[in-house]
Amino acid sequence: MTARILDGNALAQRLRADFKTRAEALAARGTRPGLAVILVGEDPASQVYVRNKVNACAQAGFHSERISYPRDVEPQVVFDKLAELNADPAIHGILVQLPLPKHFDSDAVLKAIAPAKDVDGFHAENVGALMQGHPRFIPCTPYGVMKFFADAGIDLRGKEAVVLGRSNIVGKPMAMLLLQASATVTVCHSQTRDLAFHTRRADVLVAALGKARFVTADMVKPGAVVIDVGINRLPDGKLCGDVDFAGVSAIAAAITPVPGGVGPMTITMLLANTLEAAEREVG
Ligand code: GUN
Repeated sequence: MTARILDGNALAQRLRADFKTRAEALAARGTRPGLAVILVGEDPASQVYVRNKVNACAQAGFHSERISYPRDVEPQVVFDKLAELNADPAIHGILVQLPLPKHFDSDAVLKAIAPAKDVDGFHAENVGALMQGHPRFIPCTPYGVMKFFADAGIDLRGKEAVVLGRSNIVGKPMAMLLLQASATVTVCHSQTRDLAFHTRRADVLVAALGKARFVTADMVKPGAVVIDVGINRLPDGKLCGDVDFAGVSAIAAAITPVPGGVGPMTITMLLANTLEAAEREVG
């Protein structure tokens, strides 16, 4: 079997065209969706992510603000800025790029974002709403993964879904969404014994562990749907995922490539959440 390639760029393009139309409809009613992105420090990867987020806003006709601070900024400066953005009617979504420097209490920072503007869905209130099954904002990466399933007509009911990684950003919300879609969900992590035992049982495998080409063909059930959330840089500078694409694509039913799979969908769903926040506000 040669896997069907789930093309994140193509799906993202289709969704973004729809968002642009919806943003224009809102603009005609006097509201332009607005996103504020806060970056603390000079981490090169975070700088790239933030630049891409701001550029995606411009292309979709959204307003955006990028607010950057040096890594040694006093946390109170960021809290004050968040209070200002929470009250700013031109801003519908607020995102603080993670990870924050060590002297920050990340949970406290995320809690300082107004839940109605928390387009990452990381505020404790929004995490709780997702867990209870009525999310206000779905975290962008797992939201993008669910869009792949919907677009490809993959029915998750009763499927064995295995998530590799238990982060608050991907693994945990991904597991909740798969559960909500009636899959049987297993979450594996660094302390899991016999990881391959679990992955070989998976009808749907989501790899979000941050290890280059970790998932090899012998770990995958033939005919599985494989979603690769990893973005790793190889010594030669090339990007690769957590899945050995060449080997696994020969036996999977469907697979997302890296680059061009989950990555473009993450930013697309950030636009979706910002647009939804603006639409909710307008009513
Ligand atoms: N760092 C890595 N992924 C993300 C994300 O989705 N949102 C934020 N805020 N920071 C991140």
